[in-house]
Amino acid sequence: MTELITIERHIIEQQKKYPSATGEFSQLLADVTFAAKLVRREVIRAGLVDILGAHGSMNVQGEEVKKLDVFANEKFIQAIGHHGRFAVMGSEECEGIITPPEGKTSGKYVLLFDPLDGSSNIDANVGVGTIFSIYKRISDPTSGPGSLQDCLQKGVQQVAAGYVIYGSSVMLVYTTGQGVHGFTLDPTIGEFLLSHENITTPKRGKIYSMNEGYYRYFFDGVKKYIKYLQQEDKATNRPYSARYVGSLVADFHRNLLYGGIFIYPRTKKAPNGKLRLLYEANPLAFVCEQAGGRATDGYRRILDIEPEELHQRTPLFIGSEEDVKIAEEFEQGLRELEHDTELIPKMLAEVKKAESLLVK
Ligand code: AHG
Ligand code: MN
Ligand code: MN
Repeated sequence: MTELITIERHIIEQQKKYPSATGEFSQLLADVTFAAKLVRREVIRAGLVDILGAHGSMNVQGEEVKKLDVFANEKFIQAIGHHGRFAVMGSEECEGIITPPEGKTSGKYVLLFDPLDGSSNIDANVGVGTIFSIYKRISDPTSGPGSLQDCLQKGVQQVAAGYVIYGSSVMLVYTTGQGVHGFTLDPTIGEFLLSHENITTPKRGKIYSMNEGYYRYFFDGVKKYIKYLQQEDKATNRPYSARYVGSLVADFHRNLLYGGIFIYPRTKKAPNGKLRLLYEANPLAFVCEQAGGRATDGYRRILDIEPEELHQRTPLFIGSEEDVKIAEEFEQGLRELEHDTELIPKMLAEVKKAESLLVK
């Protein structure tokens, strides 16, 4: 019989490897799990809001109906903010940093999160997610709550990161730097159970994910890379398949399991891309590297970028190692499109035919 391992037990077992662990970190991760369950409860009811009488902006309990990303943000702050286990938080939905409530002591951890990723997909029942990232505070713990500087650490300093995907089933995937592990929620008992131990991503995939609708705004390198992926070449399994849902968590998760590349490049309209370094790129880069993949901005490793501001954006090339490396070569202008191998013999045959006609 297979052993049933809950996420709480898994976290505790992993922390046992650190003799100095106090349990505070395990508790913080458990709080994140709890907040995810609250968000999931609301996500699966999203389509019911209208028929349950929530006309205008009030629901049946007479409460104001909130946009789901605002709701998810509040649940995370509520679930984590009252325990004093964190020093400071940063959320995609809040302009500034979030410090523990008045009178609460500050913990030693920093939590950065995107409470609801892919929110534009919610009404269409397409998978959405939550992304989180945990650091140790670097400011003096006796100086009160954490500061902006605690949030502006390089991704390489993360002690844990992961995401929850609210899809056909709910999964939580996380890493503490000891591999990547996935848990599936059993809704009947409300527990996340270990379902994907030690996830590794293929070194090369067959899927590319990007919003090609912005093709005209892309720079030449990325344009050529797209053409490269669409060429026919048996040795490298081309052409690739395109898959793009528009929820980063869902696109990333699929590619992590199957292999492939996700790109949100810099464009002529958005020179730094769209995605956020602290809430989206860093946590997924940590997960991806732990699974054997690669994550860069086309030039630099994501985890080595020094953040300058909370809501900083970054281009993102993430996924299977070999795919990301080739994409970088195109982006940096180090690689040009090969000729279509199918086309060359055909053209040579045409030339020969023309020559033979000329001789006659
Ligand atoms: P969020 O819902 O947290 O604002 O994130 C949306 C992001 C991300 O999930 C997705 O990859 C990307 O926006 C899609 O953007 P485009 O519509 O520009 O392709
Ligand atoms: Mn997002
Ligand atoms: Mn979001």
